[in-house]
Amino acid sequence: MQSATAVGIVSTGKALPVSRVTNFDLENIVDTSDKWIRERTGIEERYILSNDETNSKLSLTASKIALDKAGLKPKDIDLIIVATVTPDMIFPSTACLIQSELNACNAAAFDLAAGCTGFLYGLNVAEQYIKTGAAKNVLLVGADTLSPVIDWQDRNTCVLFGDGAGAVILSEVERGRGLMASKLFSDGSKAGLLYVPAGGSRAPATVRTVEERMHYIKMNGPEVFKFAVTVMIDSTKEILNLCEKKPEDLDYLIPHQANVRIINAASKRLRLKPEQVLLNIQRYGNMSSASIPVVLDEAVEEGKIKPGNLIALVSFGAGLTWGAALLKW
Ligand code: UT7
Repeated sequence: MQSATAVGIVSTGKALPVSRVTNFDLENIVDTSDKWIRERTGIEERYILSNDETNSKLSLTASKIALDKAGLKPKDIDLIIVATVTPDMIFPSTACLIQSELNACNAAAFDLAAGCTGFLYGLNVAEQYIKTGAAKNVLLVGADTLSPVIDWQDRNTCVLFGDGAGAVILSEVERGRGLMASKLFSDGSKAGLLYVPAGGSRAPATVRTVEERMHYIKMNGPEVFKFAVTVMIDSTKEILNLCEKKPEDLDYLIPHQANVRIINAASKRLRLKPEQVLLNIQRYGNMSSASIPVVLDEAVEEGKIKPGNLIALVSFGAGLTWGAALLKW
């Protein structure tokens, strides 16, 4: 899967809200317990928007860090993609809002909605732009602020999610490094397993939609769980096969951080050692499209990820969508 142009992640950044909400805090809101949440999900705490924090503000902070680390100026960016299902507003895109704040005067900008797989969809799109020569430097943000669309009366979902943003800069890198392969999938027939019924053009806000709590996440957790384990295993295997690699060749797997039991079940079937699998779900919960770039940023900052490391990224989410990517750091 080698092409003439090698495309890689040249820098990372992240941003989180200031307010930390523990499982014990949630015990005061719904009928749940720290024990249940830890044992069934692996989550201990998460960060939630407060005051004037927004998706675009978190995205902007993460983007500025990634730009600084890459040694680039905003005018060097040709394209901004924000992978999100929780934009500040229906339109304009959150990407355009941060394009303005950054004064990235040469950048096209759009949002990309692929649920929790958004970051991997964005990676794939950015790669195509750079490979074709349509862009030189792409700013890709995975950002989700699900707390405003969580039903804080529904213990099945409100304990799972956190808000955050992760950003990366993609550019051409030396041959033999960067993205080695990337595969995306979708099955829209499973859209009803994870969705927000109202707030779009089909069911705009009315007294009825608000009274019926239709602006909040509806999820069939057990069905998504089963699906997730299968596709995490299959897409990781597929991406490795494409590059004639095996699970034992991986330095790290960075899985979407939705539930530690999903991650453990998939890792076990892939025969991965615990030290190959990077986790931060205990501190952040499920941050949707921000999950993978935030794990990546932390692992880079901690010096865990080193040049030459082989890293697989794998995710699944609303759509349903799923996908994987393999990269050499
Ligand atoms: O990014 C993609 C987004 N979504 C996901 O990845 C979700 C995937 N699914 C999951 O992670 C799991 O299915 C959940 C964590 C959502 C639920 O775990 P589960 O082991 O599948 O539990 P369950 O839904 O089968 O519920 C088991 C019990 C039920 O009680 P009964 O009917 O057995 O009495 C639930 O009402 O646990 C109860 N329960 C809770 N109890 C305490 C559900 N949520 C809670 C809670 N606290 N927060």
